[in-house]
Amino acid sequence: MVEQVENVREWGPWSVWKTEIVLGAYAPQFLRAATGSRDRIFIDCFAGSTRNLERGTGRPIRSSPQVALQAGDRSTFTHLVLFELPEKAAALQETLCSRYPSRRIRVVPGDCNLNIAEGLAWLRRQGGPRYGPHLGAALAYLDPNALELRWSTVQALASWCMNPPEGEYRRRNRVELLILFPTGPLRRKLPQAGKDIASDEHQLEIDQLFGNCDWREIYRAQRDRWIGGEASWMHYVNLYRLGLSRLGYSYTSAIEVRNTKQVVQYHLIFATSNQAGLRIMNGVLQKAREILPRMLAAEQRRLRQGEPPLFEDLEELRLIATDPDEWASFIDQTPTPFVCESYRPAFCYEPLRFDM
Ligand SMILES: C[S@@+](CC[C@H](N)C(=O)[O-])C[C@H]1O[C@@H](n2cnc3c(N)ncnc32)[C@H](O)[C@@H]1O
Repeated sequence: MVEQVENVREWGPWSVWKTEIVLGAYAPQFLRAATGSRDRIFIDCFAGSTRNLERGTGRPIRSSPQVALQAGDRSTFTHLVLFELPEKAAALQETLCSRYPSRRIRVVPGDCNLNIAEGLAWLRRQGGPRYGPHLGAALAYLDPNALELRWSTVQALASWCMNPPEGEYRRRNRVELLILFPTGPLRRKLPQAGKDIASDEHQLEIDQLFGNCDWREIYRAQRDRWIGGEASWMHYVNLYRLGLSRLGYSYTSAIEVRNTKQVVQYHLIFATSNQAGLRIMNGVLQKAREILPRMLAAEQRRLRQGEPPLFEDLEELRLIATDPDEWASFIDQTPTPFVCESYRPAFCYEPLRFDM
């Protein structure tokens, strides 16, 4: 039996920014655009803890399921499918169902990569061949800690109900995706030239993140010093976006989030095949960019009251808050494939090595 304990987790300011602002801004706009849809679905593959606190202040912050449950006024999410590891799942189901007794919420315990079909099958069972939530507007939020999200899960979401059996309706649009691409953890797992090469175990984990080995070309160019670490993050993100385009998404974009030391934390990748999605994302970016100046003001207020700082460096925070391109740049140029040879320095005549 799984013990039901209340799970408390502390979050730093960049995580607060991610959930409260990005999803908090996105979900209401998504719901507004989906007012005409009878059912509106929220899928959260990494649903998190029952109680979340801001590190330093202890201020309670909303988890992604709570943000989704509270989003919208007249039009809200009608069905929520959440995935979480067993030690947290039971408490999450109990807490959310007692707080929101009239909402249709299903928490699937266990690895989302293994259980995605089970969660989607629950949704499918709520309707018939030509009606039901599986045909409604759907948003999936994929917010792993590190490299836990496998490409097979993204594929399952992208293709869900797009080629149904004869006699059943197909979805009009693919499930919309908001994915936290783990650039920071990826950087830690891929040591640069001059250090030991990434372990086999980490390389296999990254194969599963991308669904293939194409990223290894980028890593090889990085190891051979043909491209620098900074440039390489953009190539990894582009490769991921290209994969989403191949799954049928007509529009993808990314917001790159850096901390006050200018280190890339993560990329928030967005994929849609719906025209409204592009408009919504532009609105979200505007909202996302308003938040850092507000966080700066709150930090200054805290310091004046003698409370401990949340950010590492107030001066840096002050500098970057004035220029959102510094900490939340928006990337929506059409991604192009990485061509390793085009980065090969002219003086390098050694044949290419395929030793990874
Ligand atoms: C970054 S947190 C998610 C935070 C949440 N979205 C929120 O805003 O509160 C990642 C969560 O994923 C869970 N997790 C990790 N690996 C998982 C997996 N393979 N399947 C499902 N959940 C997983 C962790 O227990 C953790 O609570």
